[in-house]
Amino acid sequence: MINCELQGFVTSLRTVDLQIVAPLLVFATSLAICFHELYTWYRARRLPPGVSGLRCIFEIPSEKVWLKMLRFNQQYGNIASGSFFGYNIIVIGSAKIAEDLLEKRSTNYSDRPRSVMCGELSGWGKIMLLSNYNDWFRAHRKWFAQDIGSYASVAKLHRMIEFEARRYLQCVLEDSERNQAHIRKYFTSIILRLSHGYVTQAGDDPLVDLAHVANSQLSMATAPGLYYVDFVPLMKYIPSWLPGAGFKRKAKKYAVVLRDLVEIPHNYVKSQLAAGTALPSLSSRIMSRPDLTEELEDSVKWATASMYQGGADTANSVSYAFYLAMTLSPRVMRKAQQELDSVVGASRLPTFADRPSLPYMEALFTELLRWYTPGPTTIRCTRVDDEYNGYLIPAGSYVFVNIWGILRDERTYSDPLEFKPERFLGDKPEPHPGNACFGFGRRKCPGYFLGHSSAWLMCAQSLAVFDITKCVENGVEITPEHNIVGETIVHLAPFQCSIKPRSAEAERLIRQEFPHTTDGRTE
Ligand code: HEM
Repeated sequence: MINCELQGFVTSLRTVDLQIVAPLLVFATSLAICFHELYTWYRARRLPPGVSGLRCIFEIPSEKVWLKMLRFNQQYGNIASGSFFGYNIIVIGSAKIAEDLLEKRSTNYSDRPRSVMCGELSGWGKIMLLSNYNDWFRAHRKWFAQDIGSYASVAKLHRMIEFEARRYLQCVLEDSERNQAHIRKYFTSIILRLSHGYVTQAGDDPLVDLAHVANSQLSMATAPGLYYVDFVPLMKYIPSWLPGAGFKRKAKKYAVVLRDLVEIPHNYVKSQLAAGTALPSLSSRIMSRPDLTEELEDSVKWATASMYQGGADTANSVSYAFYLAMTLSPRVMRKAQQELDSVVGASRLPTFADRPSLPYMEALFTELLRWYTPGPTTIRCTRVDDEYNGYLIPAGSYVFVNIWGILRDERTYSDPLEFKPERFLGDKPEPHPGNACFGFGRRKCPGYFLGHSSAWLMCAQSLAVFDITKCVENGVEITPEHNIVGETIVHLAPFQCSIKPRSAEAERLIRQEFPHTTDGRTE
């Protein structure tokens, strides 16, 4: 009886509790939601101008993202934003803002965003281009800086670069129709000497072809907006056989190529070290250290793969564009050739030592870097909330810089679509494109000095010995088109032009033997 009364009392207490607690809970939850919405709304109001929600999703292009970004910046200003489902995208269209954020506040702007398709599913996550700014990344940048981090360190490689340049000219003389492949081989040969002490063979070389395939895949797998899995990471668990999971099957294929890119040259160095025949290289230097551990070996394997991958793609893209620029601008070509003839003469090829005496050639090369940029955008991810000119840039934002747009901004460059080296000469030269073209801050291209030197030499020597003109078919000149292919790293689609030795003397210079160098580092 007493028990029953007690039970009734407890039950009535619970009922009273629930009657009070339930509405309280509903009230508190609604308040929290209101605060959250208010907070989100307040933060969204502080974002740079732009679009949000579903509209933003429809704005994301699946290709040539830099063209869309250009229009976006023209519409909303040099710093614009897009936000959807918790993602914030910031689009920068001016060099000043890029420098203010990516250089002056580099601690916050040196990470890359998560890349599910490329970094995780295809396995590229340990390559420098995709690493976050951490100890792994810093160790690799340090190795790069030791070997190619200044003009002084690259000067030690001049002889090896000149040797490869001669091989290149000979290949063009033999078969100018395959110029794009010869250019690719020139840059990949230089980088493979440095990274792995590998000398490419005459004709087609498997490691040159491998880098080409891997880089094309990397460019597509990192294309912003191309793979939904980058925005909805849970999609990576979809079974590969399901319809719509084509991206997983593709990633599997990419991973196989990447494995070859990393392992084949690494195993080559190991076998050369074992045989006592290894040429000096970043890999052989670290692999011969007495304190070599498994972790260190893994680290140098990926650092050298990053060098091989990075050096095999961008500089060749620029240098192929050089041939388009010359085909389209005969006046510029003749002027540069006149300068080369008067400074260097016809009895030898230009070398690095001539560079300071060739101001027009320098302006031409600078204009090439502005007119055609192989990396049209760069992307970062912020670590913490930031504020710029009163705008909020939330932690975790994807920050894009439209390098392509910056270098074609008519507020900075007169007639930006024209190829005009003169813009960099005279009393009032236009701003040098070097910074934007090679990226910004702590992630600026680590191959700057090497790329700048090897591409300059190739252009200068080519102009010294070849005339580059439009092809003529049935009496009609064919004007090549400026078609860009690729996404993160772009290339010109193959185009036709005529490449002929300027004279019998030029042909003799090309065919001249160049003493073979086995050590890329010494004279
Ligand atoms: C004309 C030649 C070149 C151009 C225009 C160029 C351009 C660029 C650009 C725009 C970036 C992105 C930088 C950023 O995110 O701010 C980059 C990154 C990179 N480049 Fe180059 N590059 C060139 C040559 C080279 C060479 C010769 C190498 C070989 C060592 C190289 C290796 C790399 C690597 C490893 C990265 C990734 C750096 C990182 O994420 O921190 N590049 N390059």
